[in-house]
Amino acid sequence: MRVNFTVNGRPQEADDVWEGESLLYVLRERLGLPGSKNACEQGECGSCTVRLDGVPVCSCLVAAGQAEGRDVVTVEGLADHARQRSCGGSDGVPLDAAKGWAAKGGTDSQAGEGIELAPIQQAFIDAGAVQCGFCTPGLLVASDELLERNPNPSDADIREALSGNLCRCTGYEKIMDAVRLAAARQSEGV
Ligand code: FES
Ligand code: FES
Repeated sequence: MRVNFTVNGRPQEADDVWEGESLLYVLRERLGLPGSKNACEQGECGSCTVRLDGVPVCSCLVAAGQAEGRDVVTVEGLADHARQRSCGGSDGVPLDAAKGWAAKGGTDSQAGEGIELAPIQQAFIDAGAVQCGFCTPGLLVASDELLERNPNPSDADIREALSGNLCRCTGYEKIMDAVRLAAARQSEGV
């Protein structure tokens, strides 16, 4: 079947999609958006989290056909999504800008160089909340959604929002710090 949907503000079309194919597979393997990670494929780890019509979902559990006519935001579109939220109005990510999503080499201090980051991404870097990084895309999408609907979350709110996202490396405290930092910057208009 063919699936037509919007990904990060741009209309996309995937052909020959098998009925049992997941949204995660289509994003990664057909559309070339590998940011959403494939770990458990059972809805247990949250590393594949994307927003479907604004709601965070495990894309490994969503059949690609369910995305027909709907709006998906992945970690690759987070910066544009954040910009739309603060400035309003956008026609999606221009192709030239999308090409900048490709990973660039460099040291930690150069992280993000040449790529505009969403505030939550910058906060994760600044708080040292990224170690192996495998969980990070899902955590970023979930954290960004939390701060969109609740600009001043309590620690309990953060824990609840991120309860479906597992991290083996950080012990979660740096992740908590990152979300607190992003919330503080957001409230200060930084
Ligand atoms: S890969 Fe989807 S929840 Fe783990
Ligand atoms: S940073 Fe390695 S799993 Fe979270």
